[in-house]
Amino acid sequence: MVKTKTVYVCSNCGNDSPKWLGKCPVCGEWNTYVEEIISKSSNAKNSSSIFETTKAKPLLLKDVETGEEPRINLHDEELNRVLGGGLVPGSLVLIGGEPGIGKSTLILQTVLGLNEVKTLYISGEESARQLKLRADRINSNSENCFIVCETNLEQIFVHIQNLKPDFVIIDSIQTIFTENVESSPGSVSQVRECSARVLKFAKETNTPVVLIGHINKEGSIAGPKVLEHIVDTVLQFEGDQHYMYRILRSIKNRFGSTAELGIYEMRQNGLREISNPSELLLTQNHEGLSGVSISAAIEGVRPFLIETQALVSTAAYGTPQRSATGFDLRRMNMLLAVLEKRAGFKLIQKDVFLNIAGGLKVNDPAMDLAVISAVLSSSLDISIEKHVCMTGEVGLSGEIRPVNRIEQRILEAEKLGFSKILIPQNNLKGFTSKVNIEIVQVRKVEEAFRQLFG
Ligand code: TYD
Ligand code: MG
Repeated sequence: MVKTKTVYVCSNCGNDSPKWLGKCPVCGEWNTYVEEIISKSSNAKNSSSIFETTKAKPLLLKDVETGEEPRINLHDEELNRVLGGGLVPGSLVLIGGEPGIGKSTLILQTVLGLNEVKTLYISGEESARQLKLRADRINSNSENCFIVCETNLEQIFVHIQNLKPDFVIIDSIQTIFTENVESSPGSVSQVRECSARVLKFAKETNTPVVLIGHINKEGSIAGPKVLEHIVDTVLQFEGDQHYMYRILRSIKNRFGSTAELGIYEMRQNGLREISNPSELLLTQNHEGLSGVSISAAIEGVRPFLIETQALVSTAAYGTPQRSATGFDLRRMNMLLAVLEKRAGFKLIQKDVFLNIAGGLKVNDPAMDLAVISAVLSSSLDISIEKHVCMTGEVGLSGEIRPVNRIEQRILEAEKLGFSKILIPQNNLKGFTSKVNIEIVQVRKVEEAFRQLFG
């Protein structure tokens, strides 16, 4: 009989302890210890290789061939870019996201478009029939995509050995379990053990593997942080359930930049790549509407113009209401305080609601000027001219601070047909291109307001 014992494992860092602890001594997090059952014999089994015959030999670093890593083109511009120019053979990629956001759709759609690559899609969540229904919905079929519904890791490796695929998908890592570890699927030790063995497989056979992972209620990928350390690339698929836009962010990438961003739209028949996000975020005709301003923002490395909407009304109750969607509420409160000081905006008497178009969350500080202008526009009930956009960070004393990549912002605004852009003073150093857009440099919020509202 296999002797079992229980340990307590920190779900944040993976540290274990024979008894429960309130605070993890390693990572300092509170209340992260969960009970796990491990079998005595597991350690002996763990060390065995998946393919006993493949033994890698140490090489001199100087003898390792460099050359351009040949990457697999996924025929999806957004995904290719976020991965740093395609999928690297032998890499292990983790895609995390909330349930129902479209992770399975994204990956299935991608592999169905890859006719030349033999793929094995391992599903632990859906039946083959469900996957077929989804594929029909996406309206795409590949000659080279194999499906297997399996959750046992040992069985999965048998399938892999028989089929010898060039690309493996595991949907999701939390449903897979190995017989070596006795705790239930999705537990810290199962996730850690399974992903470590999948990594070994990927590196030994140079086969790329994509793992789909759930995220927990705090928004991080469920399972220990070690999972993120194990894989080469961590992508996060996010978006608001009520909006159609989805954003693919790179959180960690051993083969490319983490500044890249992919934008998709969820449609009836799958996800559509959005190569020009500004078009999407500016569709409404807002001429004559107060409380709307357009900001030239940058997310990742791509510039886009985005609409900010504000509604200011008289506070009906003692405590004025403040709400911000897609923007940091504390930052908004700071901007309102600046407005109070600089434009006689009576904070205590006003409810303020702020909304960034499209359900996007924008972290670019250059949004400040547009936010403050939208609020003032609504408060004064004077609309901002339709062909004017702006960019700039607002400081505590009402000064407008320079922002990065100003050229890209100006060129994007010009491309989209704006006739005027407000930018921070002294931000234009080194910018020499001739542009067909009026550039107005502003030093303080008062100057910006004079430009906008006369
Ligand atoms: P899914 O890929 O199952 O999400 P995840 O794997 O992240 O849990 O996405 C499911 C959602 O996407 C579901 O609410 C329906 C929607 N959807 C579409 O709108 N259009 C489509 O073509 C497909 C396949 C799904
Ligand atoms: Mg899924």
